[in-house]
Amino acid sequence: MFLASRFVAGKTADSAIAAARKVNAQGMSAILDYLGEDVTSADGAEKAAAEYIKLLQLIHEHKVRAAISLKVSQMGLLISSDICLDNLRLIAAEAARYGLFIWFDMEGSVLTQKTIDVFDALRQDYKNIGLCLQAYLVRTGGDFDQLARKPFHVRLCKGAYKEPPTIAYGSKTAVDGNFRMLIQKAIDASSRGVYPAFATHDTQMLDHVRRLAQEKKVGEANFEFQMLYGIQNQRLAALAKEGYRTNVYIPYGSHWLPYFIRRLRERKENLYFLLRNVFRV
Ligand code: FDA
Repeated sequence: MFLASRFVAGKTADSAIAAARKVNAQGMSAILDYLGEDVTSADGAEKAAAEYIKLLQLIHEHKVRAAISLKVSQMGLLISSDICLDNLRLIAAEAARYGLFIWFDMEGSVLTQKTIDVFDALRQDYKNIGLCLQAYLVRTGGDFDQLARKPFHVRLCKGAYKEPPTIAYGSKTAVDGNFRMLIQKAIDASSRGVYPAFATHDTQMLDHVRRLAQEKKVGEANFEFQMLYGIQNQRLAALAKEGYRTNVYIPYGSHWLPYFIRRLRERKENLYFLLRNVFRV
């Protein structure tokens, strides 16, 4: 676990609450994520849902400014849509009771359509939910247009899974190009009730959002920036000081390995850092 401690708050919900309190003190909100994915038993999915219910209660009791984020494969989607929806409804109802918000992470492309379908089904009944879309997927512009026919909260990110070139842009230039196009769509759609969260540490993308929002006269209350715990958080705190809405995504729990590997893959310096610590070179 010590290897992942730069990116993960700790093993317990209490460690996530403590980390949330710290980011709140710096003017930012938190998004708490109980690590876990690809759950293959109904019991495992039920336990993950129970952990989220406990987390929502803790957020409420401790009065931290925090939302939660979860994965549909953690809620049982690999077993059945019904199991997943039952778990999500329990969590969404508990969150609504406390006025708290739920983000749906987006996983690998095998689950993209199913995640959108589950989200679409739930948003008929719950307004306190938002969905992540990934700029590296060719399909995402179309998905955005479809979803934005009705007001919704969308988190736009570049995408963190390994995807084949038949469905995903392969180069940084192409991914950034599609991200810019999605940023434009999201800023334009904010007048129709779409609330975008821009989840990136990329300075060029951050500047692009700020420039476009100013040009189109979209106020700071109509969108937000999100970054991952342990990455560029001082930069995010500076954006908070400028008056932007800001959120730090804080993962916790024992199932940290897949999340940690995704963070290592994003930046080769992380791998050198890991090797230096393991082999003390
Ligand atoms: P890019 O990769 O171009 O990085 C820009 C700069 O940020 C780098 O030059 C470096 O300085 C810094 N940086 C980025 N990654 C780093 C790392 N791992 N370690 C150290 N520095 C790093 N993905 C997904 O597929 N599904 C999801 O649900 C989510 N959810 C999500 C929520 C939030 C709040 C964020 C910020 C991101 C996600 N992601 C995600 C991850 C996202 O898709 C993407 O992989 C990472 O954010 C890295 O991409 P950037 O936009 O930061 O740009």
